[in-house]
Amino acid sequence: MNLEVKYAGLTLKNPIIAGSSGHTAHIGDMLKLEEAGAAAIVLKSIFEEEIFHEFEKEMNDLEFGHELSEHFDYFDYQIRQTNIANYLALIKEAKSKLSIPVIASVNCVYSHEWTFFAKKLEESGADAIELNMFYLPSDLSQTSEEKEEKYFTTIHNILHEVSIPVTLKISHYFTSLGTVIKALSETGIQGMVLFNRFYSPDFDIEQMEVKPSFVFSNEKEYAMPLRWIAIMYGKTACDLVASTGIHSGETAIKMLLAGATAVQVASVVYEQGFGAITSMLNDIQEWMKRKGFESIDDFRGKLSWNNVEDPAVFERVQFMKYFK
Ligand SMILES: Cc1cc2nc3c(=O)[nH]c(=O)nc-3n(C[C@H](O)[C@H](O)[C@H](O)COP(=O)(O)O)c2cc1C
Repeated sequence: MNLEVKYAGLTLKNPIIAGSSGHTAHIGDMLKLEEAGAAAIVLKSIFEEEIFHEFEKEMNDLEFGHELSEHFDYFDYQIRQTNIANYLALIKEAKSKLSIPVIASVNCVYSHEWTFFAKKLEESGADAIELNMFYLPSDLSQTSEEKEEKYFTTIHNILHEVSIPVTLKISHYFTSLGTVIKALSETGIQGMVLFNRFYSPDFDIEQMEVKPSFVFSNEKEYAMPLRWIAIMYGKTACDLVASTGIHSGETAIKMLLAGATAVQVASVVYEQGFGAITSMLNDIQEWMKRKGFESIDDFRGKLSWNNVEDPAVFERVQFMKYFK
């Protein structure tokens, strides 16, 4: 039986990727993820603001002023012990100690001023770059087109900088989700992760304060990526990877049946430990054996919109009946 998959031009020994999280910020945990069977690691994201602010700070120290984009060469002669340098060192360390692919991740929020930095990720040995892009559409003065334009500009600039595969991780907060997924997939990126999950604000009613909450997903949250991967499979120009709510081998199989090339896991490792990945792999293998599948390709997309008898099931959203 062969669990190998090709994702964004990388060969993965199986379809389970350790998604970006606190675990992928430390080499000790990354070694445990690899030992548990993870086929690739997405490093904890470096935040665009970190790149930008550190760079700005150092520029100001050197009295170069604020026109950052004119001073990119600065990186070629001085990088102090900063978050940036630490991130590049993390890539190098991960590459030297792990035998699975290492995907760097950048959290992109506001601008594309930092995109020159992508070259540094490539030079440090990253096998690919995942752009974790999210602009919360709370700015009421911008149209959805203006908001979406930022995604395209950033991707365009990154692709100009690097030759390693670039992938994109997005949320489902788009006005016309399917159209945007398709258009983004056609920009030259090689993979798309559907979807990122964010922790949401909650209220503490005793202190009357806003507090962060819901850091980890639960095992029922996979419905949204499942639906959208099933709908988009075969309609995008790049691979699709599932993320959010994948807590078991059974859910991972569902994502592959929907058309995912691979799945990313994060919360389940916090909640059940590194062994969760091993159990998921065992369950996938056991199921494939039972169903007589030799490879992931034998069943990928079998329950996608294109392949089911009644694709309308993916578009039905209202509850027509209620249960007494
Ligand atoms: C503690 C924690 C830290 C995370 N940090 C990042 C991050 O830096 N970059 C990113 O793209 N996603 C990050 N994520 C999101 C996960 O990669 C993943 O997309 C999300 O948690 C949904 O998957 P899950 O249901 O398997 O947790 C983080 C998740 C958790 C729980």
